Amino acid sequence: MPTMPEPGTVANSRVHMTQVVMPNNTNTHGTVFGGEIMSWIDICAGVSAQRHCRNNVVTASIDDVHFVTPIKLGFVVILESELTAVFHTSMEISIVVMAENPRTGERKLAVRAYSTFVSVNDQGNPKKCPPLKTISAEEKSREKAAQARRTRRLEHRRLEALAAAESPEIS
Ligand SMILES: CC(C)(COP(=O)(O)OP(=O)(O)OC[C@H]1O[C@@H](n2cnc3c(N)ncnc32)[C@H](O)[C@@H]1OP(=O)(O)O)[C@@H](O)C(=O)NCCC(=O)NCCS
Repeated sequence: MPTMPEPGTVANSRVHMTQVVMPNNTNTHGTVFGGEIMSWIDICAGVSAQRHCRNNVVTASIDDVHFVTPIKLGFVVILESELTAVFHTSMEISIVVMAENPRTGERKLAVRAYSTFVSVNDQGNPKKCPPLKTISAEEKSREKAAQARRTRRLEHRRLEALAAAESPEIS
């Protein structure tokens, strides 16, 4: 039996998920739908978030998503997610998506994304998360970078709220 990582660590939040691109996942060009990848990203990251806080979680936002390589029918899609930082009730999760050619084994980066999940209680209100134990220098550096992204994200949220207040027909 493999040893389980210590609760609260980045390693404990790491999730690997594998999908094979089937015909019902593809568009008319024979490559996977962007929305399908978004759905897999949301599931993979959500498991990371839930594994950390052992609580119900909701997606608050997903940062810019760039599809850098098309993924073809029959290719293997490998998703890997892990926490980079815990704030108070929210957590940032890094997701890397690779496309593997099943015949050659060649792997290419397909998508990289960051999402924020919020731990919520039974009423759907934000609930405090346990702290993240960052151990390696790399984990600590990624945690610091996450703080900078959070600042930008919350500023974006503030501006969106201002714009919505000026267009009450959208709310
Ligand atoms: C996400 C949600 C719980 C936030 O609730 P809220 O009443 O706005 O709460 P707050 O303003 O106190 O924010 C709570 C936390 O969410 C974070 N947050 C809120 N909106 C965010 C956004 N757009 N991006 C990143 N983080 C966000 C806040 O920074 C805060 O984090 P912190 O406690 O770690 O500092 C609420 O907006 C919600 O339920 N949204 C719908 C979620 C949903 O349906 N997702 C899709 C299906 S799972």
